[in-house]
Amino acid sequence: MATSKSEGRATARAGANFALVKYWGKADARLNVPAVGSISITLDALFTETEVELAPKLAADELTLDGKRRVEDVAKISACVDLLRRRAGVDTRVRVSSRNNFPTGAGLASSASGFAALVRAAESALGLALSARERSIVARQGSGSAARSVFGGFVEMHAGTAADGGDSFAEPLLEAKEWPLEVVIAVTAKGEKETGSRSGMTRSASSSPYYGAWVSGQPPDLEAARAAIRAHDFGSLADVAEHNCLKMHAAALAARPPLVYWNGATVDCLHAVRRMRAAGVPVFFTIDAGPQLKAVCAPGARAEVERTLRAVPGVLDILTSALGAGAELR
Ligand code: PMV
Repeated sequence: MATSKSEGRATARAGANFALVKYWGKADARLNVPAVGSISITLDALFTETEVELAPKLAADELTLDGKRRVEDVAKISACVDLLRRRAGVDTRVRVSSRNNFPTGAGLASSASGFAALVRAAESALGLALSARERSIVARQGSGSAARSVFGGFVEMHAGTAADGGDSFAEPLLEAKEWPLEVVIAVTAKGEKETGSRSGMTRSASSSPYYGAWVSGQPPDLEAARAAIRAHDFGSLADVAEHNCLKMHAAALAARPPLVYWNGATVDCLHAVRRMRAAGVPVFFTIDAGPQLKAVCAPGARAEVERTLRAVPGVLDILTSALGAGAELR
């Protein structure tokens, strides 16, 4: 084992998550406070592992992602680590080395697992001991969805109302083992997405005529999803998750210029999932700010869903995962 918890150095792992009731739009761009709450599941097979090492001799933070130096992304991680440096009362620079075991930046939530792992490792390297809630608040400021990857299983993110973002954090709803759903991801394009979620959200908020309806429709969707998760009611969760996903995309599609995150294979997979469910297979879809389709399966349905989606023309790859734990030190 590497000396992951030795002084000034720590390694953490965090799973990717995706939302069943989605975050789309910001109430405060500076503090990265979302305009709406969200509910997600954390995955165990898609994760980021990040090592943070204090580097007193460096003049600026350094980031290596998947073996490549990423000068263009240093500002984002520095801003997030600054929040922890301030708490620790130090100004020491850090060397960050991060690895995703899945494609980066293609709508597979690498920023969520990335910032959750970064915060967990940096906190420890700096000798801090944050509560999980504080960790979630710091991770949120790196990436909104990262606040959720701090926790495992089913997770709810609260938008909050406090001016300082102090009540904008995620909390666990249900542990993975309590309702072991599985996930099949149909990868329909590789490479980084065209419009990142940050600019997609800004554009939707400023130009989509449906943005207001999207925001005001969120509380009942959150309530319905919460109740479905509490009751392990797959059909009700399927219903609200697909509705919420399509509403988010409706708001994005109606932006100017439009945000079309789907390709033909995404839509074909969507129909394949709907056909399977109509035929009695417990599965539903969700799609984020990218062309990959995520199919959520009740226990036992994964093999059939995987087989069906693999046969859809344009599906390049299939990833599968169970639900997993929150961000942890290694
Ligand atoms: O956390 P961000 O800035 O990558 O935004 C996430 C946006 C969606 O993935 C589309 C929805 C969500 O709730 O994860």
